[in-house]
Amino acid sequence: MKTKEEMRRRTAVVTGAATGIGAAITERLARQGMHLVLVARDGARLETAAEQLRAEHGVQVSTFALDLSHQGAPARLAEWLTGAGTEVDVLVNNAGAILMGPIADSDPARVRGLVDLNAGAVAELTALVLPAMVARGTGAIVNIASTGAYAPAPYMAAYAASKAFVLSFTQAVWAETKTTGVRVVAVSPGPTDTAMNTRRMPGKRGPDSVADTVMSALRGRGPAVVDGRLNAFQTFVFGRLLSASAATRTAERILRKAALGN
Ligand SMILES: NC(=O)c1ccc[n+]([C@@H]2O[C@H](COP(=O)([O-])OP(=O)(O)OC[C@H]3O[C@@H](n4cnc5c(N)ncnc54)[C@H](OP(=O)(O)O)[C@@H]3O)[C@@H](O)[C@H]2O)c1
Repeated sequence: MKTKEEMRRRTAVVTGAATGIGAAITERLARQGMHLVLVARDGARLETAAEQLRAEHGVQVSTFALDLSHQGAPARLAEWLTGAGTEVDVLVNNAGAILMGPIADSDPARVRGLVDLNAGAVAELTALVLPAMVARGTGAIVNIASTGAYAPAPYMAAYAASKAFVLSFTQAVWAETKTTGVRVVAVSPGPTDTAMNTRRMPGKRGPDSVADTVMSALRGRGPAVVDGRLNAFQTFVFGRLLSASAATRTAERILRKAALGN
């Protein structure tokens, strides 16, 4: 990763940028002097966030209101960036959504939409911006996964599976690019206090902690980072220590109560 001076006047594209973890990440990137492109569905909320970042950090901030779960949306964003003459130095694929409850009770279209957003758009955007980064021999892509990526999660099955895709995909692309000068890394938050997760939970962390972990992951070397020691321990237990079936049974007992209340 670059020094603070080298990051100046460079541009970061952050999805899901106006709220929660994305907002905390954009604040840190702006503090480093990076120009920003903020992406999410709610254009008015993006513009409010952009105005604040411009005022506080003096960086250029553009917004692009887009539903990334829609077919062709990542390509539209890439075309718009090219049309604006914007080179992407850092891409943070942070936008995401969750669905709780048994799959049998879920709206099939919402299940598909979640996978398209959490996994499809991440893969497509990565593939869209990576070639130019590799050609320049510099750049970084951070894909926000989840501790849920490390084992199947009953009652949030599509969410955990979509994040397992993000983790596996990112680890593989890291291996493909590790000698190119481009940094590719997955960051997995555990329960984090945002609009997505308003439940009271022990060990819950704040979006600022996750954003700090993202910034240090940008400077690091490995393919995957878990935010927080307790979360890292949990991913070790569920992802490595327990067999897949034991991890799934244990997760079912824990998550049933959260999802169904029994
Ligand atoms: N909070 C947690 O406990 C937790 C734990 C592990 C991982 N994560 C991951 O962290 C990331 C950020 O989540 P958060 O916790 O900060 O929650 P959040 O505040 O709800 O942020 C989600 C962001 O994604 C955007 N978004 C949602 N659907 C979108 C769509 N179809 N197209 C474009 N943008 C969309 C939202 O903006 P609009 O509504 O304006 O589109 C919002 O800014 C997600 O990938 C999430 O899975 C969160």
